[in-house]
Amino acid sequence: MIVVSTLLMLLIGSAFAVLFRSVADLRATQRLAQQSQGLLMAVNQVQRQFFNLETDARGYALTGQPQYNTRWQVAQAAFPKEAVALTRLAGSNAEQRSTAERIQQTGMAYIKEHPISSGSAAKYDSPTKQRTTTSERDDWRAEPIRDAFHRIMATEQSLATAREERAEATANRAIAATVGGLTGSVLLITAFAGYILRAIVHPVRQTAAMADRLANGDLKARTPETGAGEVGVLERSFNRMADSLQESHAELSTSRSRILAAADQARRRIEHDLHDGAQQQLVALVLELKTAQSVIPTAQPELKAKMSRAAERLVGVLDDLRELSHGIHPAVLSKGGLPPALRALARRSPVPVELDVQVPQRLPERIEVAAYYVASEALANTAKHAQASYARVSARADDDVLYLSVHDDGVGGAALGRGSGLVGLTDRIRALGGTLTLRSPERQGTTVQACLPLTEA
Ligand SMILES: Nc1ncnc2c1ncn2[C@@H]1O[C@H](COP(=O)(O)OP(=O)(O)OP(=O)(O)O)[C@@H](O)[C@H]1O
Ligand SMILES: [Mg+2]
Repeated sequence: MIVVSTLLMLLIGSAFAVLFRSVADLRATQRLAQQSQGLLMAVNQVQRQFFNLETDARGYALTGQPQYNTRWQVAQAAFPKEAVALTRLAGSNAEQRSTAERIQQTGMAYIKEHPISSGSAAKYDSPTKQRTTTSERDDWRAEPIRDAFHRIMATEQSLATAREERAEATANRAIAATVGGLTGSVLLITAFAGYILRAIVHPVRQTAAMADRLANGDLKARTPETGAGEVGVLERSFNRMADSLQESHAELSTSRSRILAAADQARRRIEHDLHDGAQQQLVALVLELKTAQSVIPTAQPELKAKMSRAAERLVGVLDDLRELSHGIHPAVLSKGGLPPALRALARRSPVPVELDVQVPQRLPERIEVAAYYVASEALANTAKHAQASYARVSARADDDVLYLSVHDDGVGGAALGRGSGLVGLTDRIRALGGTLTLRSPERQGTTVQACLPLTEA
């Protein structure tokens, strides 16, 4: 990334440097072209002035008319100023400057030494006499000035041509730098974007998707560790975090299951102790009382009635004890499995219960116990809170899962957290790797559904 950024910087920097340089060159060339134009105009001006001088001098020499003399005077006055301006304009180029100076000097000398300037009008009194000689002498004197005019213009034109060529080369260089810089930048930016997409955007997106799956409970979500630099660190950290989350989750499930199994075993032992201990003794006591009652003489009806009441109360205590031990751990579940245990629950429910049980085989004990508690708590809730006219218990097991649902047509509005029954069930089912769902819209009944995997995770 650093290499590409540096390359991009260098490329764009060089392209701009060339462009700036070319623009500066072009501006300088443009300035010189303007100067050159000014110089050529000045040369034209001075040349015209000089031609005027020549023409007027010749006209005066040939015709002797005073208007030529007057015009000569005007041109004579204007020439030095224009010649000086020309010299100033030619200032930057030594050769042109010296030619301009020569024009100035020879021009001034021409004017100064011309017979008209010296006021020798007499020499011109008979113009026709001197026509030929004067013209020849003027031509001879004007020749070097004409040459200088010619040279200064030719040199300026060749300078202009050279400048044009240089300007064209500069413009071409600027175009090449722009096109090269632009193409290089586009290529580098495209390559850079591709690299960022492949090396950063794609892995970060993938890690974000995995984080989303993890957040939604998929603890197996992992991201490929292919990124470089910080992205690679991010991917590895994410995977380590997911590993440790999965381990903690597994440990938590195991310890939950252990606690549940221990609690269930304790309940079973208590139920067993009650059944074989207190209950048996109470049954024996009832039988003894009944035997004692049968041998009481009829002359003592009061004693007989007391004994009978005591026996009845003992039977009542025995029933209570049976009910209690059933709640602790139903012996019928251990003996006959889920269908008879659910039937016993339905029988004891004060709300009429429809049963639909399709569980042909015995299930693992932890599953049977959990399913029994779900049905037991849901039916108890129906009786306590639902004001329902009926309840329906359905159970269906295939090779892998047991589905159990308890539905009532009561008032609805059940929610986790207001008591401990439904929360405890949720914990129990989760500890077995299953799910418990509660649907209880207001006035539309309540459904508790448990889904329990039959194989251990
Ligand atoms: N079948 C139902 N119909 C209407 N409301 C219900 C039903 N089941 C539960 N509820 C409501 O949901 C709440 C939570 O039930 P939960 O079984 O967790 O607690 P509880 O029955 O109040 O107390 P606990 O079960 O600990 O003796 C109840 O207090 C009750 O208001
Ligand atoms: Mg409850």
